[in-house]
Amino acid sequence: MRKLCFLLSFLVLAISTFSAELSREKFSFDKGWSFHPGDIAFPRIVGHANSYDNAKAGKSWGAAAPEFDDSSWRVLNLPHDWAVESACDSTENSSQGYRKRGFGWYRKKFNLPQSDKGRYLELEFGGVATHCTVWFNGTLVHRNFCGYTSFSIDITPFANYGDEVNTVVVRVDAQVMEGWWYEGAGIYRHTWLTKKSPLHIVTDGVFAHPVKLPNGEWTIPAEVELANSGKTKRNAEVLVKILNPEGKEVQQKSISTTVESLSTEKVQLSIPISNPQLWDIEHPILYKVLTTVKGDGKACDRVETNCGFRTIEFTANNGMLLNGKRVQLKGTCNHQDHAGVGVAVPTSIWDFRISKLKEMGSNAYRCAHNPPATEFLDACDRLGMLVMDENRNFNVTPEYQRQLEWLIKRDRNHPSVILWSVFNEERMQGTENGYEMVRRMSQVVKKLDTSRPITAAASGGLSTPVNVGHAVDVIGMNYQSENYDMVHKLFSQTPVTSSEDISCWGVRGEYKTDKQLKLHDGYDTQKASWGTTHREGVKRVSERPYLAGNFVWTGFDYRGETQPYEWPACGASFGIMDQCGFPKPVFYFYQSLWTNQNVLEIFPHWNWPTDSIGKKIKVMAMTNADSVSLRLNGKLLQNRRVDKYYMVDWMVPYAPGTLEATGYRNGKEIVRKTVQTTGRAIALELNPFRNSIKGDGRDALPITVRAVDKNGQIVPDADMLVEFEVIGDAQNIGVGNGNPNSHEAEKANERKLFHGLAQLIVQGKENGTGEVMVKAKSTGLKEAVLRIKMEESPTIPAILPSNQRLNLDVWRISPVYNTKPNPNQEIPITDMNSWTITKPGVLHPLSENEYCLFRTLFTPTAAVQKSGTIITFHEVVGTAEVWLDGVLVSSKTEVGSANISFQLPPKSGGRTLTLLVKGTKDKVGMAGMVLGE
Ligand code: GAL
Repeated sequence: MRKLCFLLSFLVLAISTFSAELSREKFSFDKGWSFHPGDIAFPRIVGHANSYDNAKAGKSWGAAAPEFDDSSWRVLNLPHDWAVESACDSTENSSQGYRKRGFGWYRKKFNLPQSDKGRYLELEFGGVATHCTVWFNGTLVHRNFCGYTSFSIDITPFANYGDEVNTVVVRVDAQVMEGWWYEGAGIYRHTWLTKKSPLHIVTDGVFAHPVKLPNGEWTIPAEVELANSGKTKRNAEVLVKILNPEGKEVQQKSISTTVESLSTEKVQLSIPISNPQLWDIEHPILYKVLTTVKGDGKACDRVETNCGFRTIEFTANNGMLLNGKRVQLKGTCNHQDHAGVGVAVPTSIWDFRISKLKEMGSNAYRCAHNPPATEFLDACDRLGMLVMDENRNFNVTPEYQRQLEWLIKRDRNHPSVILWSVFNEERMQGTENGYEMVRRMSQVVKKLDTSRPITAAASGGLSTPVNVGHAVDVIGMNYQSENYDMVHKLFSQTPVTSSEDISCWGVRGEYKTDKQLKLHDGYDTQKASWGTTHREGVKRVSERPYLAGNFVWTGFDYRGETQPYEWPACGASFGIMDQCGFPKPVFYFYQSLWTNQNVLEIFPHWNWPTDSIGKKIKVMAMTNADSVSLRLNGKLLQNRRVDKYYMVDWMVPYAPGTLEATGYRNGKEIVRKTVQTTGRAIALELNPFRNSIKGDGRDALPITVRAVDKNGQIVPDADMLVEFEVIGDAQNIGVGNGNPNSHEAEKANERKLFHGLAQLIVQGKENGTGEVMVKAKSTGLKEAVLRIKMEESPTIPAILPSNQRLNLDVWRISPVYNTKPNPNQEIPITDMNSWTITKPGVLHPLSENEYCLFRTLFTPTAAVQKSGTIITFHEVVGTAEVWLDGVLVSSKTEVGSANISFQLPPKSGGRTLTLLVKGTKDKVGMAGMVLGE
């Protein structure tokens, strides 16, 4: 019944879309790509005919050619990060997490219905790591030079319709590095195919970000960019409606314009909104902006964007104001990889990560050091997280300006974005060159958005006569916390924020630093030489209200940047949480300081070996109580005052049992916490982040796996191997345990626990229904069984791959003959003009008693070479003969349109196929496609 409801609602949606004649349709393009790891060399081009061909649109070679045989390649769905699938390898680069990157190829074939002819067709890639080249139907259509920018390709002029197949090929060069951290490899963000009306809104063409006027009124200055791919000039009417969070229309405005054929046109409207509900961190209230376009009176395009009403102001002496009130930026810097999935992060994992940061009290996120996935920013808008959005490449030449422009255009509607960062730690930062670069980049940004300040994360150079600080709106300081006051004094009129700080290592569950074992203790002591402890760093910022706040390096651990260690360490352990999002002790330091909850957590665990009995162990409390008393096995050890920043610790002679801490504020108990020596692990438990999962092929659910003793306590030294089984309409998409030194496979049905914990990520299958059962087993432990409800979800419309095995679509047509020609004659190799290129689907004029030949040379796929196939010429007009490799294999005596089929026998290598056609009164030739079964 529920399924029927979904189907009905989807149908209603589809019908309403069409009855209104809104012709935009957005399809996921993620399904059914063929993938080849490693590079495939292009053949060397020799000879005049090949050289001549090589210079033509539609001609590509090797794996870029539409006809290339990819039948043995692995078929997968995007997003895909091939680096996370590979094993750690000591010969690879430590910065990239010792993962092999190199090159890879992706190919996808698909069909478009005839009814798409005349529409504007655009392929969109959310992100490809790192450089890539894209061919469409044999023509090179795009080269992308940044692993973090998305790109859209207009495929309209190259598209085939009906039975004629389209081929997209992407060669990925992940040998190139843009960072010094794990960057993943491959098409790691979503892909889309959007079909639009010829008169349409360009991608990222709606800019509608509310502004508060000096008189206190709100307005949305909306800018809409239209394009017209049609053959004639169009009259367009743009209508912008604003819907409040309840979905009720609160205002609308329209404007008319004309758009010339193959041109673009921008329109501007100002939409006043009275008394809007404000967007902020606690109440991330979003309005919808519905932009529709009518072409000569007929609705033809529609785009929905979100917006939030909020003001931001960075001040030189009072930090940042959000909606007029000072809000300290309690930020973290983060890279974009997560356990199990690498950089191919499902949207719901972004929600999970942002929720964990919010649980800690963080309100700001720096996208270090690159543009994030657009789904990430949507989640920040929805959940209330402020964002420093960062450009990757510090360069002002045209291609890099284009990358920066793209970033601003894509992201400027997000209320969560409060700062544009143009660089991180550049060697030119203290020079006039750096100043000139930032000045130019700032100009690029300001042309597109004046509502957010520009910053740059400088790690020095701010005291030279001319430096980047003179060209930004907000000075970002990385580390150098001893210079905050000096910089504030030097730039007394410029707001300053710490853009990156701390860099203190810690491995979750570890309380001893051991260089041999590549471990860092979790007591917040292992600071990098350029950093501080978490406690010291936050104190320095918090005591300087002129600073807008800080961004801790980092919220989560990440792969790569294994410093100060090297192999076998393969991940960085700067995170407040590990790669799975499991908290380390400092998580509770931030929670104490950054939330209003009563927080008290004590560390370490209390499971020490018997030879530790009597030896002193450092016990540390992370709390916002003002004093804490500590008891061991009921005996009061000491009540100590807590320093707000440095927290409190004790040296406690170890005895197994119960450590109990009681936190007081103004002498009143506010919170209590115990840590007990656990028994041995007897059972596994599975604890999902949510209690349901969507059956949409995308929703992913992190599940915590833990080993517990007979009292249900997590056993802190449990490290057994756990096996997983997922039953029902879901699949395991990755496993992790937060150990930065682990080399275990992340795409696996098993994982060792690390200090009692591991994470399994389960993804719902498309059209999933019923219940998903997840089992976790380990020898000697009670198995855990988790049942998760599957929420039925509408199917995301998708372009499926074509399974056409043979499609002969490139032919040459001979000159006209007055007598029956030899069908097996050779085409003179140097003659580029007598035999011209043609394709099936096009008929040719030929009078009675005239003849012509159609010729194609092709190499069938390995499977067809082995077993043969039946080839059919669809709808041949005129009497005809079919010659294969010099032998007559079929013929047709009727003049009217009919199919001709013949058996292609097995044979290795290339084949020569000729169609001999005799003229009639009408046009003759191949009206349909030539296809193999
Ligand atoms: C900074 C840099 C970061 C990271 C960090 C490690 O200098 O901006 O990307 O490398 O150091 O401490």
